[in-house]
Amino acid sequence: MKTQVAIIGAGPSGLLLGQLLQRAGIDNVILERQSPDYVLGRIRAGVLEQGTVDLLREAGAHARMDAEGLPHDGFELVLDGHRERIDLKDLTGGKSVMVYGQTEVTRDLMEARQASGALSIYEAGDVQLHEVQGEKPYVTFTKDGEAARLDCDYIAGCDGFHGVSRQTIPADRLKTYERVYPFGWLGLLSDTPPVNHELIYASSERGFSLSSMRSATRSRYYLQVGLEEKVEDWSDARFWDELKRRLPADAAARLVTGPSLEKSIAPLRSFVVEPLQYGKLFLVGDAGHIVPPTGAKGLNLAASDVDALYRILVKVYGEGRVELLQRYSEVALRRIWKAERFSWWMTSMLHKFPDNDAFTQKMLDTELAYFLDSLAGRTCIAENYVGLPFETIE
Ligand code: APR
Ligand code: PHB
Repeated sequence: MKTQVAIIGAGPSGLLLGQLLQRAGIDNVILERQSPDYVLGRIRAGVLEQGTVDLLREAGAHARMDAEGLPHDGFELVLDGHRERIDLKDLTGGKSVMVYGQTEVTRDLMEARQASGALSIYEAGDVQLHEVQGEKPYVTFTKDGEAARLDCDYIAGCDGFHGVSRQTIPADRLKTYERVYPFGWLGLLSDTPPVNHELIYASSERGFSLSSMRSATRSRYYLQVGLEEKVEDWSDARFWDELKRRLPADAAARLVTGPSLEKSIAPLRSFVVEPLQYGKLFLVGDAGHIVPPTGAKGLNLAASDVDALYRILVKVYGEGRVELLQRYSEVALRRIWKAERFSWWMTSMLHKFPDNDAFTQKMLDTELAYFLDSLAGRTCIAENYVGLPFETIE
């Protein structure tokens, strides 16, 4: 088999890149380890920046998002019961975000790909990358017990944090930056109306909580929990009780509870590798970086990586501008580090860290209070939340 771009992984990064390349007439094949149902079973964040929305429109995967997505012009920060609204639209000269689940984004992209007729191979086993530094890279894998080979010009490693692409790069060629936080998020999805029409990020003595949503009838809530906690120990009743104690009194009184559709615990991590290129291999999305979910940047960063690589590849194939390939890593990393900073800052400001001494805690509380009391500070939060601009590639 032969293609121009071999894409490893059919998460949002791989599917979005594949769809954009397809529409630009650049042939690509996606190799995914799991089945489509498994990929769609993963529940992840749900806030899209304008740049992500625009790119999904450019990929032609926007009809349901435009019909069902919820535009949000602001969100709330709560500090020990005191509510502060960040008016995104006002503070950013008219920008907002779209609340639309990553699972739905993935489903829409899968459908668009199927309609385009491009090849995706699900349940591809033992994917291995070869000759990545040479002129003729290729990928081997197994499908239904048969060995197969895919020759290509370039490989996009879109296979997430645990994927094979990053592991193909010799360890001494990568610099890793990492912070593992001393807590996780326990998430609960339920068919109950959201407690508030906008998201509530709440810091309290008992730890952080986030009240989010998927629609007018489906809510997504999270609680900061210790790393030793087990999801089996959290009955729905215990979850709701704890959430009420972390919300401001008026919101707690309004909270509608119900049976959970899903409950899971995810650890929080900041992680970046540099560079994001090794020969003909380019790391995209979670394969190259992870953010803690507090700023809702994971999917949006994947989209900005895709934007950069896609625009470079269009110029490479259309205008012969192969020298642009060397710029992918630096262009993507500039924006990645800014989103890493914002996600780390939001996480640090809003969570209770078990090892913080009293002075450190006062400094953090005061830093957030200072930002909220200042127009410049609120603008800084808003412009990061709606998403920093994508770099143009000339
Ligand atoms: N071979 C083939 N496919 C693989 C392999 C492998 N060896 N390893 C992993 N994959 C697949 C996974 O099964 C998954 O479907 O790669 C895909 C990676 O998808 P994601 O983990 O969703 O990563 P990405 O597409 O970069 O999406 C980033 O997802 O994790 C969230 O917070 C993150 O929202 C962000 C977004
Ligand atoms: C979610 O709805 O799952 C969500 C929203 C905002 C975040 C993280 C997760 O910051």
